[in-house]
Amino acid sequence: MSQDIPGTAQVDQGLVDMFSRTISYLRLSLTDRCNLKCMYCVTEDERNGCLTKLSQNELLSYEELLRVVKIAVNMGISKLRLTGGEPLVRKNVMHFIEQLGSIENLHDIRITTNAVLLEHYAQQLVAAGVKKINISLDTLKPERFTRITGVDCFDKVWRGIEKAQAVGFSTVKLNMVVMRGINDDELVDFARMSQETDLQIRYIEFMPVGASSRWDKNTYMSSDEIKERIAVLGELIPDAGGRADGPASVFKLGEDAQGKLGFISPISHHFCDKCNRLRLTSEGMLRSCLLHDEETDLRSVLRSGGTDAEIRATLLTAIRNKPKGHQMEDRLKESGSDCHGRMSRIGG
Ligand code: 5AD
Repeated sequence: MSQDIPGTAQVDQGLVDMFSRTISYLRLSLTDRCNLKCMYCVTEDERNGCLTKLSQNELLSYEELLRVVKIAVNMGISKLRLTGGEPLVRKNVMHFIEQLGSIENLHDIRITTNAVLLEHYAQQLVAAGVKKINISLDTLKPERFTRITGVDCFDKVWRGIEKAQAVGFSTVKLNMVVMRGINDDELVDFARMSQETDLQIRYIEFMPVGASSRWDKNTYMSSDEIKERIAVLGELIPDAGGRADGPASVFKLGEDAQGKLGFISPISHHFCDKCNRLRLTSEGMLRSCLLHDEETDLRSVLRSGGTDAEIRATLLTAIRNKPKGHQMEDRLKESGSDCHGRMSRIGG
């Protein structure tokens, strides 16, 4: 066993943090740019053009990202997710993903996308070795889609989803951020899709992230309430695979359902004790908790001629500083959200 940083062990079994959690999952935000302007991500002013974006030089380059991923995989990271912003808007992204696909010992690459460009990229993603895809979709109503995202392109997104189902991803998940008064009247329609298709529908509790988030306690809806609302369609049968695949608790809605339903409850039933994640933001900061703003600057290490050992030490520092939990429920009671990181740079 090598002990690079006191209290954080890189043991043969992988990366273990101060609370005995094994960190095996790295989420990379490839860009803060996005071809949608969702109401929970940007303010009205930002939607109308006042959005500050990172410059090319502020983003980690593909070479820097590949270097970090190779080192992280050697240290025990086995699962990688590409996020954004919207990852597919970054220039030459497919070439980068193909290079990721050929990294030795990295066999689990996933992507989260809004599907605007998916019709074009789906086939190439599968060919590059991306096996699982999460698609953000908060409504099935085209006009409402335009209101939530600021862009009139529901049909394009829907064609992207159909293409994803056709090209052979092992799973296609649809992520719905549930917002009372905005899309909660569609909970049952989404649930029905999990019965009639092999899609996995995932309801995500709305989180108070970012200064521009429109989160408030009336818009937030807990997973327990969501479950009550879809109970009209039948019994929720726990899925045998259960939580093995991440933080969602997974069910089938009736014995005959073709697909599954997942509930992601970061606020009401947080999963911090099982959190295995580390995030790299689009500007190269390591973030060990989505809902805590503390970050470790990896970009400076990379750009000041950092050796592989220094990069390893920086990854271990970030893991050592991973908080035990986010306690967001308590923080909200006391002072409201004090988490100001931008989702578009952190990647969800
Ligand atoms: N609360 C919950 N989920 C969010 N996402 C973006 N912002 C929020 C928020 N405030 C979702 C996106 C995407 C995933 C990465 O995170 O819709 O599906």
